[in-house]
Amino acid sequence: MSELQPVRGTRDLIGEDHRRHQHIIDTARRVSASYGLEEWATPIFEDTRVFSRSLGESSDVVTKEMYSFQDRGGDSLTLRPEGTAGVCRALVTNGLTQALPQKVFYAGPMFRYERPQKGRYRQFHQIGAELIGTAEPLADAEVIACGWDILKALGIAHDVVLEVNTLGDRDSRTAYRAALIDYFTAHQAGLSEDSLARLERNPLRILDSKDEGDRRINAGAPTIHAHLTEAAAAFYAKLKDYLAGFGVPFVENPSIVRGLDYYGHTAFEFVTSRLGAQGTVMGGGRYDGLVEEMGGPPTPAVGWAAGIERLSMLLADVPAAPRPVAVVPVGEAAEAPALAVLQQLRHAGIRAEMAYRGNLKRRLERANRIGARAAVILGETEIARGVAQVKDFVSGAQQEVPVAELPTRLR
Ligand code: HAM
Repeated sequence: MSELQPVRGTRDLIGEDHRRHQHIIDTARRVSASYGLEEWATPIFEDTRVFSRSLGESSDVVTKEMYSFQDRGGDSLTLRPEGTAGVCRALVTNGLTQALPQKVFYAGPMFRYERPQKGRYRQFHQIGAELIGTAEPLADAEVIACGWDILKALGIAHDVVLEVNTLGDRDSRTAYRAALIDYFTAHQAGLSEDSLARLERNPLRILDSKDEGDRRINAGAPTIHAHLTEAAAAFYAKLKDYLAGFGVPFVENPSIVRGLDYYGHTAFEFVTSRLGAQGTVMGGGRYDGLVEEMGGPPTPAVGWAAGIERLSMLLADVPAAPRPVAVVPVGEAAEAPALAVLQQLRHAGIRAEMAYRGNLKRRLERANRIGARAAVILGETEIARGVAQVKDFVSGAQQEVPVAELPTRLR
């Protein structure tokens, strides 16, 4: 049999990679809790309609990137490509639309059949935040401030810029859509095939195209700002005021449209120039229609998600795993009492290890190999007197310590 490989676009998280990943989740969990968010975990696969309905029939995610399959019972299921749709589905199925607002944090794997490259995978991981049930632009600013604080706590805020935009309300978008169709129809000859297909269905999507020719045309396209209703313009103005109030720096970028169809009003992305083409580390916006699409009542909501792999690439060094203490019994009779000491240390929260076999020399060599910071050496005479020899590998000093005091002395 040929050697088994990980599936294209997937990675193993081992050692340092896993520690970085975990550090990001722990940090985000801690910061989002200070904003009153509670963690949810929804299933990794859902009824395909959870996504096909909500993310937009014309979005790349739905048309090209979903991992959909029929299970043995004949149901069409999809590995979640993102977390927001599942959270909204869960809100409805758990009867929580009557218990608003809900402030949700989540972390976990997502799946998209994209062409893998640096910062882009087929199984990737997100942290995400959703504020559901709040219609005020203060909520938009607050969820963004939470994201910003997470980036600060990770020490990567200086590498990212927050770009904000508005996608207006329904009337703004209807007017803007007509203006875009006019503009793109006049430039039809230069558009890519994908964009031509989007012209009638969802011209806004063209603005998100990565095609070179499309991008040249997009540069001259009208922006939504001339088409905003008074209410939408006021909402956007307030968002910017509140962001300033929270002390979150931002720039406006009228070309942000986001890759999923559920957004209205606020759209934003935290971008970096350090990751090449995949420079969006965190993205989100307002999605007031999504809960209703899942069968719930009209419910305003706003949130974001960030790619853990991309955050990880920006992260400076994370603390290494703590160095262990090696417990070293000398002679067979010392083994059982050494086990008691081993567990005493572990139960006190100290990382402790004991080699399964070997004489004193072999075991000390092994302690060295696993990077132990100290060895607790237990011979029969020490055990009889209730003490141990503690060898500090950092200073080289050796000292006799009463067994009862080992946890305090080694901590
Ligand atoms: P998204 O923009 O599709 O939004 O993804 C959010 C983030 O996930 C991206 O900015 C990126 O960092 C990361 N990401 C996306 N695809 C990949 C990939 N193939 N490989 C690595 N990282 C990736 C959403 O998913 C929305 N649910 C965000 C949201 C929450 N909007 C409202 N609430």
